[in-house]
Amino acid sequence: MTKRIRKAVFPVAGLGTRFLPATKAIPKEMLTIVDRPVVQHVVDEARAAGIEHFVFVTGRNKAVIEDHFDMAYELDDTLGRRGKLKELEALKADLPAAGATSFTRQQAPLGLGHAVWCARDIIGDEPFALLLPDMLHHTFGKGCLAEMIDAFEKHGGNHIAVAPVPEDQTHQYGIVGVEDVKAKVSRITKMVEKPARGTAPSNLHITGRYILQPTIFNLLANQETGAGGEIQLTDSMIALSHQERFHAVRFDGDIYDTGSKIGFLTANLAYGLSRGDLGPQLRAEVERLLER
Ligand code: UTP
Repeated sequence: MTKRIRKAVFPVAGLGTRFLPATKAIPKEMLTIVDRPVVQHVVDEARAAGIEHFVFVTGRNKAVIEDHFDMAYELDDTLGRRGKLKELEALKADLPAAGATSFTRQQAPLGLGHAVWCARDIIGDEPFALLLPDMLHHTFGKGCLAEMIDAFEKHGGNHIAVAPVPEDQTHQYGIVGVEDVKAKVSRITKMVEKPARGTAPSNLHITGRYILQPTIFNLLANQETGAGGEIQLTDSMIALSHQERFHAVRFDGDIYDTGSKIGFLTANLAYGLSRGDLGPQLRAEVERLLER
């Protein structure tokens, strides 16, 4: 029987160099999309998918992420005394259950593969979800991870969320080849990290959501540095794909890389425009700016 996906890993130890100087003292995962930190949006997606335990791989200067997912007694008390009950309720609704978070440190940002490996003892011997907290998956339907868990319950094995990119951009991404490019869920036949131009097996890129078997940790333990001098997750997934099945789950919503300036700005617009309380006014303001 397939084990249930109970735990999710959020690697938040990267340096965020693409977003300097904003990320000199503030983790990029704490930059806000409308009024919620990026990482909160991704934790929301995991909670909606039924995740019960949230594992954060943090690093130096990331303590504020731990504070964000903790109770703020003084703030709660002040909100209560001032009668700001709506705000108080909203904070309580976001608070993970006691004991449902774990924080471990990646002592040096050696790459995503190394960050995931740092979570091995907390995950133990069960399949787990991995969500890159700077990649937002925006949809009005079922969340990306929830769709992946449905696919996992049907097929078992390992799962990677994918979405199409323009053919001339495939060299910038991790790309997968699949049995059926159009299918919602399809067996992965090939995986390549940043293929040379003209050599990509498809235009489906890896979007930053994964369901992985714990066997990945054995491969990550022995892994050497790969592209960019970092310990790459994709290299270990390629090695694991020789022993275990990998499926691609096609995500049909919009994806924003909030670690890039343009992705961050666009995400703020998209999330703002989709909010009932802000959308109409924001739309009017954007239209006014565009008319200039
Ligand atoms: P990125 O490569 O997008 O993050 O990693 P980065 O290295 O912080 O970004 P730039 O390129 O310098 O701007 C995706 C996710 O993996 C985490 C990051 O925090 C980010 O959420 N990560 C990356 C780690 O936790 N450890 C690492 O060594 C690398």
